[in-house]
Amino acid sequence: MAVVIACVNHKGGCSRTTTAVNLAASLALGSEDYEIRSRKVLLVDMDPKGNVATTFGVDKRRVGPTMNELFARGVGDYSLKLEDCTLGPDILSRSMRATWKKNNPEKTRGPPKHIGIRNLWILPADLDLSGIEVDLATRVGRENRLKLTLNEAMDHFDVIIIDTPASLGLLTVNSLCAADCILIPIQAEFYALEGMSQLISAIREVQKSVNPDLGLLGILMTMVQTRSKLCETVTSHARKHFGDRVFETQIPRSVAIAESPLEGAPIVIAQKPTKSNPASQSYWEFAKEADERLKAITDS
Ligand SMILES: Nc1ncnc2c1ncn2[C@@H]1O[C@H](COP(=O)(O)OP(=O)(O)O)[C@@H](O)[C@H]1O
Ligand SMILES: [Mg+2]
Repeated sequence: MAVVIACVNHKGGCSRTTTAVNLAASLALGSEDYEIRSRKVLLVDMDPKGNVATTFGVDKRRVGPTMNELFARGVGDYSLKLEDCTLGPDILSRSMRATWKKNNPEKTRGPPKHIGIRNLWILPADLDLSGIEVDLATRVGRENRLKLTLNEAMDHFDVIIIDTPASLGLLTVNSLCAADCILIPIQAEFYALEGMSQLISAIREVQKSVNPDLGLLGILMTMVQTRSKLCETVTSHARKHFGDRVFETQIPRSVAIAESPLEGAPIVIAQKPTKSNPASQSYWEFAKEADERLKAITDS
């Protein structure tokens, strides 16, 4: 059975997608250096912005049926299957390599060997998903629609990661109801912890009403600027609230991370985790910590 992780924070631009995508890619690839076992991973996009596909260089206009069509199905209607909507490692690898070529026209030797992925499937979304949120509001069992949908995938994957929108609406609530645990990226800036209480009470409500076993995988500090007093203050506040649930690893603010979607590959794939690529290193180190926490869940 898959462990389902929802990457949530209703604050926009706090690295939700970047974190979901890089964690999914590193767990799927695995690493001997970081002692991470390769797992079969499904990355689900619940954000109408549909950024997950773009991160892999996939043209959103050219994907087939998406999360939207799956969600629009009636209960018990399996005419469209979840696997009909996913994009697998071959397609993702091809599109990352094609995007690399497009962005590096001067390089005649083609993309480096490490631009590619295995064991990762994505379930893309598109803009219409926001319309579905309105439609959902009138349906019976509206909070549990994603859980029902993912039931089809539970036996086929080791990990399912859900990227959520910047709101606490029904798409996020569906994600919380479908998840075993939550991953919260927090941008290390002044207003970061404002609104945290809103998120925590949404989580509590879901725990009380629908999903009592929902746990906290951890809190990841993102866009951290070293030697910034403000970042240190925000991080120490987070530690006071969440204790050792805050991951040791912090993700630095980095141009390489901001630019990697343009390169058509998440940073953990685009750059090898060497000393000269600290941003890639940081996401790999985070993946190692997450991997250990996941093992604790699956072994218990
Ligand atoms: N550590 C980082 N350093 C610099 N830019 C980042 C970092 N993480 C994300 N970004 C950039 O910030 C923007 C928002 O990140 P994203 O992951 O899309 O956030 P969200 O999904 O929470 O809206 C994107 O343009 C992304 O490339
Ligand atoms: Mg996003």
